[in-house]
Amino acid sequence: DASDIEKGTYAHYMLKETDEQPFVIRNIIKEYQDENNNLKLDAAIREAMKKADRIYIIAAGTSYHAGLVGKELLEKLANIPVEVHVASEFSYNMPLLSEKPLFIFLSQSGETADSRAVLVKIKEMGHPALTITNVPGSTLSREADYTLHLYAGPEIAVASTKAYTAQIAVLAILAVDTAKEKGIELSFDLIQELAIVANAMEVLTDQKETMEELARDYLATARNAFFIGRSADYNVCVEGALKLKEVSYIQAEGFAGGELKHGTIALIEEGTPIIALATQENVNYAIRSNVQEVVSRGANAMVISMKGLEQDTDAFVLPHVHEVLTPLVSVVPLQLLAYYAALQLDRDVDKPRNLAKSVTVE
Ligand code: G6P
Repeated sequence: DASDIEKGTYAHYMLKETDEQPFVIRNIIKEYQDENNNLKLDAAIREAMKKADRIYIIAAGTSYHAGLVGKELLEKLANIPVEVHVASEFSYNMPLLSEKPLFIFLSQSGETADSRAVLVKIKEMGHPALTITNVPGSTLSREADYTLHLYAGPEIAVASTKAYTAQIAVLAILAVDTAKEKGIELSFDLIQELAIVANAMEVLTDQKETMEELARDYLATARNAFFIGRSADYNVCVEGALKLKEVSYIQAEGFAGGELKHGTIALIEEGTPIIALATQENVNYAIRSNVQEVVSRGANAMVISMKGLEQDTDAFVLPHVHEVLTPLVSVVPLQLLAYYAALQLDRDVDKPRNLAKSVTVE
């Protein structure tokens, strides 16, 4: 049938969509650049970003996790305070808002009911809304004041992969563009750095056999797994854990390295898999000592580090990319680990039980 044709030689959409990520990043570069290689965004969006005294990112699931990364990008690069909220929580428990809030709705499908409920509410209150979505003409796009597209192409697998990285790339563009509009000097060229990211992603998607082996060695027989990281790596750990639970049904948790000692370390037993990310220089020492803590309690720890910060015992070393863009590459091995663990456990990778691609009911 038609879906078989679209999958091409791939056994699953999830793998195909993971592989498409370098092309999606290149596509985004093309779409958000003018003929003079400057970033290209609607004047109205630039105005709204400049006017806002605080940004509220509203999202669910994987899009919420992309929002966590987006917060760091917008705060660090564009110097604007950002809150990220789970849509279903925000609806019933609205925080105090700033005077001039701008709402950003992050949604692959543009149809998530929890996010739409918030959009309806804040529009009633008279606040501006920008939707970032993969589906032009979707409900969240039509009902917001502004839209930015992800240009990721249709995402079919229930577990989101390329939409997550596309969201981060578009948020990085929004952050750098806002910085420029505000006259903030940045020390790097985002377009160039995103091109390096796309190449790095390609190197990673070419290493599927390694990821397949690591999944077998660390995850395929595990009941549970923990992802630890600090700073930017922590944000990716929560997404890595979500990916693993969605498709493999292995109980997984992502948390901050420093929180280990405050509870989760009680769960570490002989052979418990720990996946640690080490891509951030300022916390490299701290995360390494967390790894030692769990190893000394019997954990089966796998460190995924970044070139330049690696140690001999690391299971996998990522190609070097700019420090603010590491989530775009560190998530790729986690997506592949989840995929192969699910495959080894004979799960229905593209359509995990109980999940829907787009949740249009509350
Ligand atoms: C569902 C999907 C997730 C997705 C979430 C938010 O739960 O299974 O993969 O992250 O909805 O979807 P959205 O389309 O708003 O990004």
